[in-house]
Amino acid sequence: MQEYLQDKIFQIISTAADEQQKECYVIGGYVRDIFLKRDSKDIDVVTVGSGIELAEAVAKKLGKKAILTVFKNFGTAQVKNFDLEVEFVGARKESYQRNSRKPIVENGTLEDDQNRRDFTINALALCLNKERFGELIDPFNGLTDLNNKVLRTPLNPDITFSDDPLRMMRGIRFATQLNFNLEINTFEAISRNKSRINIISKERIADELNKIMKSDKPSKGFILLEKTGLLEIILPEVLALKGAETRDGIGHKDNFYHTLAVLDGICEKTDNLWLRWSALLHDIGKPRTKRFDNRLGWTFHNHNYIGEKMIPEIFHKLKLPTNDKMKYVQKMVSLHMRPIVLSEDEVTDSAVRRLLFDAGNDIDDLMTLCEADITSKNPEKVKRYKSNFQLVRKKLKEIEEKDRIRNFQPPVSGTEIMETFNLPACSVVGDIKMRIKDAILDGIIPNEHEAAKNYMYKIAEEFGIKSGTELK
Ligand code: CTP
Repeated sequence: MQEYLQDKIFQIISTAADEQQKECYVIGGYVRDIFLKRDSKDIDVVTVGSGIELAEAVAKKLGKKAILTVFKNFGTAQVKNFDLEVEFVGARKESYQRNSRKPIVENGTLEDDQNRRDFTINALALCLNKERFGELIDPFNGLTDLNNKVLRTPLNPDITFSDDPLRMMRGIRFATQLNFNLEINTFEAISRNKSRINIISKERIADELNKIMKSDKPSKGFILLEKTGLLEIILPEVLALKGAETRDGIGHKDNFYHTLAVLDGICEKTDNLWLRWSALLHDIGKPRTKRFDNRLGWTFHNHNYIGEKMIPEIFHKLKLPTNDKMKYVQKMVSLHMRPIVLSEDEVTDSAVRRLLFDAGNDIDDLMTLCEADITSKNPEKVKRYKSNFQLVRKKLKEIEEKDRIRNFQPPVSGTEIMETFNLPACSVVGDIKMRIKDAILDGIIPNEHEAAKNYMYKIAEEFGIKSGTELK
């Protein structure tokens, strides 16, 4: 396996470890990723003895360019050398208490250290000492699991997950990222231990969720989260989308699987994490707005509006950023039906202008979301929608070129209105501005200062205001 350890850093660590007469191994994700041919810059090195002493010797050999950081409390040290980050730790034996992720740590052997790892594919180690340089230590047949695309815990999964329940999320995340399967006992242990996830911080859960969201096909992760029962605990609002009811012979689609199809669909088009979140949450308001109407069948009136309102609570609960990223997701959810509704009607210039005005710079993302939302199994319907969509896109382009609505700035400012008519700041100023905006969006006047100003005089007259006169 020596061919995998070409970087000269491994020779330097090897020499330092031999000089200190310490057993030393590369372990964990870096070794896994070598076999998976994935690029990785984070190297974990485990030594039998003090990891800090070894890191100090390595940093000294690397010279000035290396940056050494020692974490005395954890007994670990990090050496940064250009884009490589090497973490040094002494081999450990850990035992856990029931209510905490914080283990009681004792010094141990390599075997102890491998035992305490989450999955067999993450417990692979390559020896760095000169005599055994490149030797693979694989006590749990991790390489076989890796070739068979299987995630399995090294020990009894109930112990591994109970020790550190974050590993349940990690398992599902690895299954999604790598397109692996959870071995049946490992899978069942997640279901049994699911409620232990409650001792994990929301930030860590969200971090794993984001990694699932960034995968090529996040649906795999969400189906596993649902099947193990974790989804019910961490995102019950998404679970509530599941199920298809039929009444009087009229059914509606299962919005959970529809949502996952939209999510996978959008992942083919964009890496934008927040657009992906928008896809996951686009129908989140449906369960709360679902009604059966004898005439109309199933309806979900205002689900986009209710969905928009639900998002702050979901983001807050998961400790996702409640800043402009959240606002963007809210906007996408609230507008997600607009382009499709538009394409069903006659596509008027005025409706296109209003859509451009409301979506602003996010119009292209909104179109991507809306197009991914077309998941009908009826090919005729899909064809019709897609061709209507082409029309909407064409119209959007034409109108944008002509009217520049995307970054709409009112061509007449409030100050100009106040100065022209000698008005104080009052609601009338707002009303005049709104009428000008509406006239532009409805195509009554062009989006230009001169035309807007003339229109301003016209409206002012309607309101009984003359230039330079005070409002009575
Ligand atoms: N590990 C573990 N249990 C955890 C976290 C980590 O057993 N809850 C072990 C695994 O052996 C893992 C190694 O520590 O391979 C390094 O962890 P980390 O850097 O978090 O993950 P990677 O496996 O490297 O994968 P990724 O970088 O994709 O998270």
